[in-house]
Amino acid sequence: MQAKYLGLELASPIIVSSSPYTSTVRNIEQCAANGAGAVVLKSIFEEQILHHAAALDAVSDSAYGDADVYLQRYLGEDYKAGFLRLVGEARECTGLPVIASINCVADSSDWIEYASMMARAGASALELNIFIQPTEVHTGARELEQRYAAIVERVVKAVGIPVSIKLPMRLTNVFSLSNQLLGRGARGVVFFNRFFEPDVNIEQMAFVESSPYSEAAELRNVLRTAAICSAVLPQLDLAVSTGVHDGEAAVKALLCGAHAVQVCTALHKNGFGAIAEMNEFIDRWAERQGFGSLEEFRGRLNFKSDTSSVFQRVQYMKYFPSEAW
Ligand SMILES: Cc1cc2nc3c(=O)[nH]c(=O)nc-3n(C[C@H](O)[C@H](O)[C@H](O)COP(=O)(O)O)c2cc1C
Repeated sequence: MQAKYLGLELASPIIVSSSPYTSTVRNIEQCAANGAGAVVLKSIFEEQILHHAAALDAVSDSAYGDADVYLQRYLGEDYKAGFLRLVGEARECTGLPVIASINCVADSSDWIEYASMMARAGASALELNIFIQPTEVHTGARELEQRYAAIVERVVKAVGIPVSIKLPMRLTNVFSLSNQLLGRGARGVVFFNRFFEPDVNIEQMAFVESSPYSEAAELRNVLRTAAICSAVLPQLDLAVSTGVHDGEAAVKALLCGAHAVQVCTALHKNGFGAIAEMNEFIDRWAERQGFGSLEEFRGRLNFKSDTSSVFQRVQYMKYFPSEAW
């Protein structure tokens, strides 16, 4: 079923999200063969470049004087060139719209310049994955949000392709920030970014890695936010990412107003064929319901079309302790 996202005409609303499933041309070919509408490339990370450079620098001979500067530059350029090649090759080999992704942690000129290079290499759009982890008590929400907005404004001005922002789940008012980003030229938002969540091993008394994959039930956390956003900010294109594990979940997100859904864990669990299954499910469901296009049902359950308390009521008023078991 055709979809429109960030001004792009997609053959399907199923987009493969930024992940290892989009990090090689071979994987992107699999996405295309199974009917994905687009792919978001694995994000390029600023820290990764610096980390690579620092690791080599540690074993280099300091007698070489400016070796660290050289390594940082060389590795940075090499790493970035690999991403630019992937954009061009993926587009050429599959014909799929390729959305480049940058993990921005700072408002730096290097990144802005690199974002423009992604556009010139053939990216149809750019997804910015921004999260500034607060670790101290004096920086308020407004200040942090202004940093997001400043990054977006600079990138939008530089790239000339549609820009969407993958936002973190825990913001005080995600609609207010989305509105600010819209004002700075953002074309869309993605709900939500998923972060590395360390766990604690109590025997080692240390932080350890946890699974990066989502649970299907996590979608519920996103549906209401999507339904409100699509009503209060219809100018923004919305993609739902988190917990879309099957066709039914995709239909739920589209009914809540998403223009597209992004999938990652579904591929981890069921392989690239999960995309084809979702497409088939959406087509069969739409046919059964008598819908000929996505726009006929997209947003049917959004905030405007349902004035019931489901949008405002978040506490469990109706449920009493005696009903809990
Ligand atoms: C192994 C792994 C790597 C990921 N890498 C990135 C990344 O580089 N950039 C990004 O924006 N999101 C990244 N994500 C997050 C996914 O794009 C997606 O937003 C998240 O997994 C939620 O979608 P899901 O419920 O379909 O898995 C990654 C997720 C996983 C599991």
